[in-house]
Amino acid sequence: MVNYKIADESLADKGKESLYVAENKMPVVAKMIRDRFTKEKPLKGITIAGCLHVTKETANLARTLKAGGAEVYLCGSNPLSTQDDVTAALVQEGIHTFAWHGNTDDEFYWCIRECLKAKPNILIDDGADMIVTAHKEFPELISSGTILACQEETTTGVKRFKAMDKLGQLKVPLFPVNDARCKNQFDNELGTGQGIISAIYGMHVLFAGKNCVIAGYGHCSSGMALRARGLGANVIVTEIDPIKALQARFAGFQVMPIAKALPDADIILTATGCKHVIAPTKEMFALLKDGVILGNLGHFDIEIPTKELYEHAKEIKPIRSDVEELIFPDGRRIYLLAKGRLANLVLSEGHPSEVMDMSFALQALMSEYIVKNKDSLKPGMIDVPVDIDDLVGILKLQSMGIDIDELTEEQYKYIHGYEEGT
Ligand SMILES: NC(=O)c1ccc[n+]([C@@H]2O[C@H](COP(=O)([O-])OP(=O)(O)OC[C@H]3O[C@@H](n4cnc5c(N)ncnc54)[C@H](O)[C@@H]3O)[C@@H](O)[C@H]2O)c1
Repeated sequence: MVNYKIADESLADKGKESLYVAENKMPVVAKMIRDRFTKEKPLKGITIAGCLHVTKETANLARTLKAGGAEVYLCGSNPLSTQDDVTAALVQEGIHTFAWHGNTDDEFYWCIRECLKAKPNILIDDGADMIVTAHKEFPELISSGTILACQEETTTGVKRFKAMDKLGQLKVPLFPVNDARCKNQFDNELGTGQGIISAIYGMHVLFAGKNCVIAGYGHCSSGMALRARGLGANVIVTEIDPIKALQARFAGFQVMPIAKALPDADIILTATGCKHVIAPTKEMFALLKDGVILGNLGHFDIEIPTKELYEHAKEIKPIRSDVEELIFPDGRRIYLLAKGRLANLVLSEGHPSEVMDMSFALQALMSEYIVKNKDSLKPGMIDVPVDIDDLVGILKLQSMGIDIDELTEEQYKYIHGYEEGT
């Protein structure tokens, strides 16, 4: 029996089309790994709970885990990123699904709890909410050893777990999948970088000639800065890390504090993982230009002070799907994307399937690794093994028909030795 609570089961046919479209662009996780998992069943007897953006790509990860023999439970990792057609298709695929677009905070945590009630052995999180809830509300899953280990998909989640680990409060083995090269150098940089297109989609606006302020110059934001420049925008970067700020400057971007950048900004996009990148003060709001577009691509809706902006506005008008016009008391208009939540996932379909192929290939292989190595894993942060990261790279290249060079024995000895010099 499939357990579920979703928005509308009648959307299943549309959802199946979406899954098919993604599957064809995800040869590593939805073909190579799935075919092997189908034969070998490495996840037989294992229950996996995922708290992930429920998109067509996530659906293909869930199908691969199921093909490997796992019982799979899914809930959304953001109230606005769930695709309701996809959840309907997932239920027909036998995936236990608790997710619908636009759920409230209470409903969000209810969905997480429904997944945890299934006594999962592996948790795959995106933002840490499910694993933190397991620590707070389901400690017996940890003390009894039911949870073998956990996997985290995004930077914000990894930061939260590092903080827990430092305080000695992380009680499970935790693999920061986000930090693998095949994840953050492609998903964060290329996927979120291209997420800038979502901002255009939401406002139908021309980037060329606009002053575009990008907060941060990390994995996601440097990708965004590059794409915005490619579209003809004058890009201004804000940072708090001196080295990142220098990298941005030497890449040819203007760098300045946010308060200095705001008055001329036509578009402001954040992806820092930090709170109140625009401070929630009337002084900061006074700096915003009439007509400015505000969007966030960081994990939580805390980078732009959404709540205070709503309070400051004398009128809030929805002007198209997931875009609101906030009219300030002095008549200035602010265009807020996706209520300050992940604009690329809410306004569009999230990352292209091609990059999620790599992120989710890592997640699938890490679940297999956890099962194989369950007896030796200790609580705390554990890096994704380099050979698994490399394997995903090799499989992706193979799927694209690309060969690369291999080290000869002589070359191997040279780069791993010290004898040869001048
Ligand atoms: N939208 C998506 O689909 C998506 C995908 C991946 C990651 N994310 C999220 O995006 C956020 C950033 O992830 P990342 O991998 O780029 O992290 P990162 O650590 O590589 O980069 C963050 C950058 O922001 C800078 N920063 C921090 N506080 C700042 C502030 N107040 N002002 C200006 N700059 C500041 C940091 O110095 C750093 O350079 C996280 O919340 C992550 O979870 C979103």
